[in-house]
Amino acid sequence: MADILPRLWYPLSAAAATTGIVLLLRDFMHGERCPSKATMEGKTVIITGANNGIGKETAKELSKRGGRVIMACRNMDKCQGARDQLVQESGNQNVHCQQVDLASFESVRKFASRINKSEAKVDVLINNAGVMRCPHWKTADGNEWQFQVNYLSHFLLTNLILDKLKAAKQGRIINTSSIAHSQGQINFEDINSTVKYEDTDAYMQSKLALVLFTLELSKRLEGTGVTANTVYPGVTKTNIGQHKLSKMESAVTKPFMWFALRDPARAAQTGVYLSVAPEVADKTGKYWKDTVAITPAAQGRDEDIAKKLWDLSLKMTGLSEDVSSKDQSKEEKASS
Ligand SMILES: NC(=O)c1ccc[n+]([C@@H]2O[C@H](COP(=O)([O-])OP(=O)(O)OC[C@H]3O[C@@H](n4cnc5c(N)ncnc54)[C@H](OP(=O)(O)O)[C@@H]3O)[C@@H](O)[C@H]2O)c1
Repeated sequence: MADILPRLWYPLSAAAATTGIVLLLRDFMHGERCPSKATMEGKTVIITGANNGIGKETAKELSKRGGRVIMACRNMDKCQGARDQLVQESGNQNVHCQQVDLASFESVRKFASRINKSEAKVDVLINNAGVMRCPHWKTADGNEWQFQVNYLSHFLLTNLILDKLKAAKQGRIINTSSIAHSQGQINFEDINSTVKYEDTDAYMQSKLALVLFTLELSKRLEGTGVTANTVYPGVTKTNIGQHKLSKMESAVTKPFMWFALRDPARAAQTGVYLSVAPEVADKTGKYWKDTVAITPAAQGRDEDIAKKLWDLSLKMTGLSEDVSSKDQSKEEKASS
């Protein structure tokens, strides 16, 4: 035994050093942690797609910080399961499930109407839900699935509950986009990919639309105290690849994914930071990665395209220009 130990010393030290380097590198790649310890006490946050992935981790962190958390999800069984887990882990009972299917404007309008009735104010809206590279599906409203679920329905929801964000002291809107926006184009000639559908192009278009939405919305919100920002969470281990990766492919890529892809809890950190930190309360119109504002791609900074997209989105969602007051009351009458 005494002979073996000196011989094992070098290989064991090398293995320990390699493991340490791998873990440090992985930690570095997985992004920054939220530097703010601010609480969410007394604040209400709505998170779309909060039953899974990045949205669920964001909901967990904000419920641990004492917020009133509204999980806006399409499947109530999944939502309830996630909610029970969050309540158990955070000890916060003020976590609620509300049904919304972003593939249906009717569902978004009903959800917004319920929020406008039940909430005196909404401090934070996190437009997180998303779908990536699905087949060429059409929504109930006849739109390309990714464009409506990822972008148009969040455009509609935000506008319908804008008064509640204005009623908060410092309302914050956070749109979840992706680095994919930098390869995207808004195809105004064929916005619903009717002529030609390419799943990646449609995803990139929807994520660019969210960046442009932030740009135009932040200008329109000047002087209201409400901010609008975009978050890029980083490449993360979630269900977002479900339409493209088979079980076999997922199993094969698992070790790579463990190393290179972020844990959802880490990916949630920038959204959490923008939700709570006092030092970013007046930051608006920006694109954030790893808790730092960075410059989005040129097409995400094009103010003319942002305005053109806004006008088209009003038409496609059936909203009028003075959305926050007129349409809200119309919706409330319709659903009462
Ligand atoms: N993961 C990444 O690498 C990555 C990178 C950049 C950006 N993002 C963005 O991060 C956001 C969160 O994605 P994730 O990675 O956490 O993926 P995820 O685990 O698949 O979560 C997506 C969430 O969106 C919900 N959702 C999908 N379709 C919906 C609909 N029609 N109505 C309401 N909710 C719907 C899902 O609900 P169900 O469980 O019912 O399907 C789920 O809760 C997305 O916007 C995504 O584009 C992710």
